[in-house]
Amino acid sequence: MMKKIAVLSGAGVSAESGIKTFRDAGGLWEGHDVMEVASPDGWRRNPALVLDFYNQRRRQLLTVEPNAAHLAIAQLEQYFDVTVITQNVDDLHERAGSTHIIHLHGELRKSRSTRYPQMIYDCDGDILLGDLCEKGAQLRPHIVWFGEMVPMLEPAAEAVELAETVIIVGTSMQVYPAAGLVGFAPPFARIYYVDPNPSINYELSLMGNLRVIAEPATTGIPKVVEELMARQ
Ligand code: APR
Repeated sequence: MMKKIAVLSGAGVSAESGIKTFRDAGGLWEGHDVMEVASPDGWRRNPALVLDFYNQRRRQLLTVEPNAAHLAIAQLEQYFDVTVITQNVDDLHERAGSTHIIHLHGELRKSRSTRYPQMIYDCDGDILLGDLCEKGAQLRPHIVWFGEMVPMLEPAAEAVELAETVIIVGTSMQVYPAAGLVGFAPPFARIYYVDPNPSINYELSLMGNLRVIAEPATTGIPKVVEELMARQ
């Protein structure tokens, strides 16, 4: 039976691929009022602005590649039962080769019906006003906006509960419920936190077996992966 690892990744794991984080200096939110481009109210007020915000991010995503951190995480699957739980909406973990990924905040390369949320479509181009689902309702980004439910929370919590090792990478641990997931780790679990500017939130502060590697993902993650593989 392969030992289980849960990876909790945030925007920082994609930073070195060239995708901006949210809260770092010059981050994505600095250019925008979050509530205008990533909330149901913003969508109601100005759907074209919201569509354009995600269209820009989707276009950029098609020009970037996974980095050494995504690749090292994918490598772990040779020896461990890995669940990647990401707050990111990019598909870099998929493109690096990870096969079991839970997107807590949705996926940039998908659209969905505003009227029938189970109608989800692959989407590599722009979503425009007038792009409709089969039943004639406007399409929206398949993204969890502020104030919306996080439908994949339960399977994510279950994966953390079963993990012997939790690797947290590139997240400011500020946005709940994602930031609280580490609290589901068993007391004996080994927790790694790779982030050049780590922020220890309440749940992390309770963890007995926490190792912080204050480095960028592309150097910190390969070190953690090497250590775990050597322990095999
Ligand atoms: N390697 C690793 N971590 C990095 C790197 C790097 N090269 N560069 C920055 N970081 C870290 C920052 O120190 C910070 O802790 O990545 C984290 C980015 O934090 P945020 O910008 O807050 O991103 P995230 O935690 O993923 O945000 C969570 O908030 O805006 C919402 O839905 C959005 O999913 C997002 C959620």
